[in-house]
Amino acid sequence: MKCIAYVSRVPISNRTIRMPTGLSDIVSVSRKHNPKSQITGIISYRDGQYLQVLEGPYLEVDKLMSKIASDPRHEDLWVFLDVRVIKRSFNNWAVSVFDFVDQGNFFNAFIENNSAVLNSFNESQQRRIQPFIDIKKSDTVPEKYYEGKDLRLLAWPDLNNESQPQMIMNLCIKLTKKPYSFNALADSGEFGSHHQVTQIIREFDRLGLLSVTEPAPIHEQTVNEKKPNKFYGAIKKFLGMR
Ligand SMILES: Cc1cc2nc3c(=O)[nH]c(=O)nc-3n(C[C@H](O)[C@H](O)[C@H](O)COP(=O)(O)O)c2cc1C
Repeated sequence: MKCIAYVSRVPISNRTIRMPTGLSDIVSVSRKHNPKSQITGIISYRDGQYLQVLEGPYLEVDKLMSKIASDPRHEDLWVFLDVRVIKRSFNNWAVSVFDFVDQGNFFNAFIENNSAVLNSFNESQQRRIQPFIDIKKSDTVPEKYYEGKDLRLLAWPDLNNESQPQMIMNLCIKLTKKPYSFNALADSGEFGSHHQVTQIIREFDRLGLLSVTEPAPIHEQTVNEKKPNKFYGAIKKFLGMR
């Protein structure tokens, strides 16, 4: 079995605050293909870059890597790890979007196991992968972070372990079609208190399922100002108004 890890850059036009556009398509195709090829791994996005780890049979990993390398949704791909392994590091994931804040233990073990390789990189190479290694340190998102932002779900959470699957499903439906305002969601009362909505959203975000964007500017409607009545001035004058 082999393990490949790479970082790649997302073209600027596809970047949003937390997740690049097109990620949900990548995730759904990966969920379909990877189990068939016995490939597991993780994908994450930070600061305009993807980091993906793929592990599985030699042939399958190489086949997938050559497909991924020619995918126009990213560029400047650097395979920073290509090693033979006897054990998987991400046994449970058929390449899911993965947030290291949440699943830090597995990623830390992965980094630890490969520290010799990672430490051999020069300064600019280290800098390139550092945002992913720093993830563990990053704090949880503050309560007010989503205020005034638009949210969209990139992939659905696993509803099997949810205590209120129907409610979470309704919330997911709202966030699926197009960006939906956090404030509208929280103010509707449909999904509990403001705080409860924040908790759910934060969880989606931690799992890397969410795109958070500034709301699109509202195009000013051209207000058709009524032309003043030509008699208006005369009437005002007549009534003694100024
Ligand atoms: C960053 C990134 C990661 C990707 N990861 C996978 C993956 O793990 N599995 C997968 O099947 N496709 C992945 N893709 C998509 C493939 O490049 C390709 O579009 C997809 O496998 C569809 O191939 P097909 O047209 O042969 O069905 C990824 C694409 C990008 C940009």
